[in-house]
Amino acid sequence: MTLPAHWDDRYENNPASKLSWHQERSPEVDFVAESVGKGTPIIDIGGGLSPFVDQLVDLEFTNLTVLDISAFALSEGKRRIESNQVEWICADIRQWQPERMYGLWHDRAVFHFLTDPEDQRRYWELAAETLVPGGMLMLGCFSENGPDTCSGLPVTRHSIADLIEAAGTDFEVIETRTENHVTPRGGIQEFAWLYAQRL
Ligand SMILES: C[S@@+](CC[C@H](N)C(=O)[O-])C[C@H]1O[C@@H](n2cnc3c(N)ncnc32)[C@H](O)[C@@H]1O
Repeated sequence: MTLPAHWDDRYENNPASKLSWHQERSPEVDFVAESVGKGTPIIDIGGGLSPFVDQLVDLEFTNLTVLDISAFALSEGKRRIESNQVEWICADIRQWQPERMYGLWHDRAVFHFLTDPEDQRRYWELAAETLVPGGMLMLGCFSENGPDTCSGLPVTRHSIADLIEAAGTDFEVIETRTENHVTPRGGIQEFAWLYAQRL
């Protein structure tokens, strides 16, 4: 099965509330609301069915983009939100070539699927190229204590120290934290979060 087909299948054949990464609410939105203006171009990388963009629409953010490899998840998002404030991009982050810059890059549970070190290196390069100077990066992935698979796929786990090192000299670290995500089945998944600002 191809990667887009894998993700379409996950979203098409499972209730959203049963997906292991499901959240009713994205707590990161509080940081967004405090940190950037409502017109800031914001992109949610691998947004899937996340409530992140819904919450920002509700808060009257006006320049939103969701990128995902699953055309099915994006079509659900379009149906759900019905807002012309959101652009939907169907792409594999590993091959995506942005046509504009953004002021905030949000990624929850996508970077850890990049298991090839070259894809990881390119991801950081892409984030740095795509963010305006002063732009914010918010990245959450399985920590070194997290699971070694997600959605039936292998992942690479990253400690906070790994993320800080990968962010390198292009970013200034603003905040780091770990978070225990409770899955719909009651399991615990430890995430490592890095918030950083593009220099
Ligand atoms: C574990 S889910 C997380 C979804 C969402 N960020 C959330 O927190 O609810 C991973 C998401 O990344 C997308 N995805 C996986 N690999 C991707 C890739 N190479 N490029 C773009 N999106 C990808 C999947 O379709 C899925 O929506």
